[in-house]
Amino acid sequence: MEDKSKITMQQQENNGQSFFFLLSGENPELAVFELESIVSALNIPVELRISPDNRVIVIQIETKKQNILSSDIISFLMKRVTLVHFSCKQLFQIDFTQFPPQSLQDLTSNFDTSTFCDLMPNTSFSVFTKRIGEPIEVHKPRSLTQALSRYLGTQIIQKNPTKWVDLENPQEQFISILSKHGLWFGQLVSHSLRKNVQQRAAHKRPFFHPSSMNPLLQRTMVNLTAIKTGEWLLDPFCGAGGALLEAARLGIHSIGVEINRKIIWGAYQNLKADKIANDLTHLIFGDATQLSFKKGSISAVVTDPPYGTASSTRGFDLQDLLLAFFREIRPLLSPKARVVIAIPSKIEIDEQIAQILNASYRKFLQYVHRSLTRKILVFSIPKRPSKIQ
Ligand SMILES: C[S@@+](CC[C@H](N)C(=O)[O-])C[C@H]1O[C@@H](n2cnc3c(N)ncnc32)[C@H](O)[C@@H]1O
Repeated sequence: MEDKSKITMQQQENNGQSFFFLLSGENPELAVFELESIVSALNIPVELRISPDNRVIVIQIETKKQNILSSDIISFLMKRVTLVHFSCKQLFQIDFTQFPPQSLQDLTSNFDTSTFCDLMPNTSFSVFTKRIGEPIEVHKPRSLTQALSRYLGTQIIQKNPTKWVDLENPQEQFISILSKHGLWFGQLVSHSLRKNVQQRAAHKRPFFHPSSMNPLLQRTMVNLTAIKTGEWLLDPFCGAGGALLEAARLGIHSIGVEINRKIIWGAYQNLKADKIANDLTHLIFGDATQLSFKKGSISAVVTDPPYGTASSTRGFDLQDLLLAFFREIRPLLSPKARVVIAIPSKIEIDEQIAQILNASYRKFLQYVHRSLTRKILVFSIPKRPSKIQ
């Protein structure tokens, strides 16, 4: 006899809807922080549950209280996020943390298929199982993912006999994610736009500079600021305009500052060639260490400063240049502002910046190539303005 209490079943609650997101495995901690930051930009209370390996996030949306459709929220998140593969409307979830199932039968006997009756009738569908992370006992049979997909497909048809399987061109897609931490099953809502963003390579723009960062990371950095649509973002070392272009695609206004005449002309060409960016961005030919914005007016900064290799620091030591910039920017930041910066990991300046900004910070490492590991630092200014050093 199986002990069903062994496995915790989390059914979707009646007063809300749950969605799960499969995060990219390259840098799961960064992926979690990106999604959390975008959710906070929504400004509505949404409950997040994160799997222990940081690969799956479940978002519980209580739409009744929000007066907003959950599908609109998910579509907002999916249009912005870069480190998510896809999102699904959750049909059921099983948590294995305490009692991992020992066999396929052990696993399937705990499935809650009651919601399958409510699925759209007369439509074709497919079921796909994605296995992530290390295998557990039940993962061992090689054909497990196929057996699981087949089992779930059969259950859907049993509950809803007007539906049929079409693996080539299904009208609906169902996905189960299987890891050592649990199983999530749901209906695909959408894939993220990460492939589209990746295709916008910097070398395809009218002006290319070798120091340009890849657009996917630029967009991730914009998201990490938790900026809301309609707010302004500053890139004080804007180069060819990569961050400004990605911000514009998210409906965010931005200002770029650049000291090199040839490069700012190139940035101008890049922004002009992009209909959306042309309207939402401004360029300033100037020095990031001498800014003339209003005090407390900047709520988000994203920057990829020169490292002194592909892009010049104009003879300044990178550390001195950065410290001068952070002293300059501190009084200009608004309460709750975020500053996101990418620098080589060997530059030990994190604490000094945190002190100047009087901010807490998170650090994420990213391998670029043999001689460069980058760190992405996200500084969060406290809600209330504090003493400026
Ligand atoms: C790494 S690049 C930025 C690349 C940009 N993120 C992109 O993807 O196109 C850094 C830029 O900072 C500029 N720069 C160097 N010192 C500066 C300063 N004091 N003020 C403003 N810009 C500066 C350099 O000319 C260079 O174009």
